[in-house]
Amino acid sequence: MNAIVKNAPQLPLTKRLKSGTSGDHDSVDNLVMGSRPFESLERYGYFLRLQHRFHGSINALYQDAELNRLLPGLHELPRFAAVEQDLRDIGQDVPTAPAAITPATPYAALGWLYCSEGSNLGAAFLYKETQQIGLDGERGARHLAAHPDGRGLHWRQFTTLLDGLELNEEQRQQAIQGASDAFAFYRQALREIFPQ
Ligand code: HEM
Repeated sequence: MNAIVKNAPQLPLTKRLKSGTSGDHDSVDNLVMGSRPFESLERYGYFLRLQHRFHGSINALYQDAELNRLLPGLHELPRFAAVEQDLRDIGQDVPTAPAAITPATPYAALGWLYCSEGSNLGAAFLYKETQQIGLDGERGARHLAAHPDGRGLHWRQFTTLLDGLELNEEQRQQAIQGASDAFAFYRQALREIFPQ
């Protein structure tokens, strides 16, 4: 029995990341929708500041040489500049960039990037909601708009790269912990930024 378990093929990393953080995702999803970010431009402004905090904190990871070696093309993916432009579009001052997050290991950083890139999928729904307040991919909702090649393609490319990495169990655990930390960071930032 033990031998069978030992020799069982490893689940792809992205499956582990998804199952390891699905509760985190649901709580963040509920918190975001409970904050009514699309009710008015004013409330959307808080949402943009939340996105600014999150994407600003991880922006440097996208340029990191080691992470770009692990995930070729990573440097093309960050959405921080689009969030800044969205803030300007709706007439808000762009806050100072937040302090950079420095995950303990490159594998933990992979988890943070999984959280950020996966949020692009749910963004399809959020993007539609921004149309209710008159925004779109050219004004105010640039960072939620789909890439011209489609959201699915980029996500599939990203997950294929993640799943192709040869990581040991400890490194996989670090990635899952990194993703969980990223969701916790997002929850905390949301509580700080949205008025209660
Ligand atoms: C109201 C807010 C949100 C909604 C409605 C939402 C909705 C969704 C949906 C429907 C998917 C699955 C899409 C698909 O499989 O095609 C998804 C995936 C994902 N979302 Fe969200 N999301 C929200 C917020 C967030 C936030 C704030 C983050 C990160 C900070 C996030 C991270 C992720 C990740 C990592 C995945 C990929 C899961 C996987 O397949 O491995 N989401 N989201």
